[in-house]
Amino acid sequence: MPPSFLWGAATSSFQIEGASTEGGRGESIWDRFARQPGAIADGTDGATACDHFHRWQEDVGLLRELGLNAYRFSVAWPRVFPDGVGATNAAGLDFYDRLVDGLLAHGIRPMLTLYHWDLPQPLQDRGGWTTRDVVGAFEHYTDVVTRRLGDRVKDWVTINEPWCVAVLGHVHGVQAPGLKDWTLGLRAAHHVLLAHGRAVPIIHANVPASRAGIVVILSPAMPASDSEADVTAARAFDGEFNRWYLDPLFGRGYPADKKAEYLAAGHASNFDFVQPGDLKTIATPTDFLGVNYYSRAIVRSSAIPEHENRPRLIAEPQTENRTDMGWEVYPQGLTASLQRVHREYGAQRLFVTENGAAYGMQPGPDGQVHDEPRRAYLEAHLAACCDAVDAGVPLEGYFAWSLLDNFEWAFGFKMRFGLVHVDFATQKRTVKDSGWWLRQVLTDNRLPGSAS
Ligand code: FCB
Repeated sequence: MPPSFLWGAATSSFQIEGASTEGGRGESIWDRFARQPGAIADGTDGATACDHFHRWQEDVGLLRELGLNAYRFSVAWPRVFPDGVGATNAAGLDFYDRLVDGLLAHGIRPMLTLYHWDLPQPLQDRGGWTTRDVVGAFEHYTDVVTRRLGDRVKDWVTINEPWCVAVLGHVHGVQAPGLKDWTLGLRAAHHVLLAHGRAVPIIHANVPASRAGIVVILSPAMPASDSEADVTAARAFDGEFNRWYLDPLFGRGYPADKKAEYLAAGHASNFDFVQPGDLKTIATPTDFLGVNYYSRAIVRSSAIPEHENRPRLIAEPQTENRTDMGWEVYPQGLTASLQRVHREYGAQRLFVTENGAAYGMQPGPDGQVHDEPRRAYLEAHLAACCDAVDAGVPLEGYFAWSLLDNFEWAFGFKMRFGLVHVDFATQKRTVKDSGWWLRQVLTDNRLPGSAS
């Protein structure tokens, strides 16, 4: 990779910070959601998480130990606006101010995500993403954070994974705010995209030399068989998961096949929430696209029983090579996804903003964490990135998910994605074998065994 390549790790505020009632932070929809009985698999919540709010200096030190030159983190909106709107909370902004200074002092380039799912609860009480008003609140929040940190933070992500916000949060109800209604989900998707489009010019205006973009989760949809029904189902899933977001972001508007399908299914009586000018705003040119990639989707036309956190069309992968999440290890899907957004949509600068695997290895008798499957996953996916670059994809950075084992949303603390193990009883951090391996790869700028 070229010398300017960003080698990073990613985290998000709710998953690591803890201190949920400290420093003037307001309630977020995830605090509320986690209290619903059964919402979180292990009955936990994010009240303490990795206690990063207090241990951030140690965590910046870990980034440095891993040799990384970039760090993707998110700002907790309720730390900045405890009431969603109105007065800002100085202590919240101060926290991120110190974090950014700490990163820069170690030569680590910050990439800041404005929204990684922790909406202030007071905004949810007014309808949250299902209402258009939330867009104005997001613009104001963006303005405040960019003014405060824009002298030092240059890479800005507006929204993390609109599909998850809209569909997991408003249709499947397995993430906050826990709603189960397609009509609300489609409205939420639109307002999330609109908020992104409105935020981009604010970032550009307030931050000299800024680079603004959005992060999408992509997954190639492949039919479980050659049958016409499965092929059709795969196209439908691709439409729901990938195209519903990529098409409007790249100026094509919402895909016609999906609009027709949603209308026919009664998910939307009309698309009256799409107002004149919205599609132009959503397609506001950005400086990069962030791609989060974990696995492919194998799609079957016959509905399978509803699976936690998963759409019904997805079939169980017929392979042993799965992570603890049940997700198939399929690195070719990363190459394909990067090529697709470059070739089909014309994306001119790409970052892999998340990629990683859940495996539950604990420290052994030697005190080390031998997580060979994660190392193999990273190696295969970095090779997939090289394949994309060789094919002409303008990939400029790779962020492993995640720096730390953390609060994995509805799965609680059971799913461990970290390069660094966290003992949640003591908060002790231990760099895993995969973390040391990644350090060697980026130091050598070469995968072991590769020619150059
Ligand atoms: C992504 C999320 C991230 C983490 C990983 C495993 O969808 O952006 O917060 O949960 O999945």
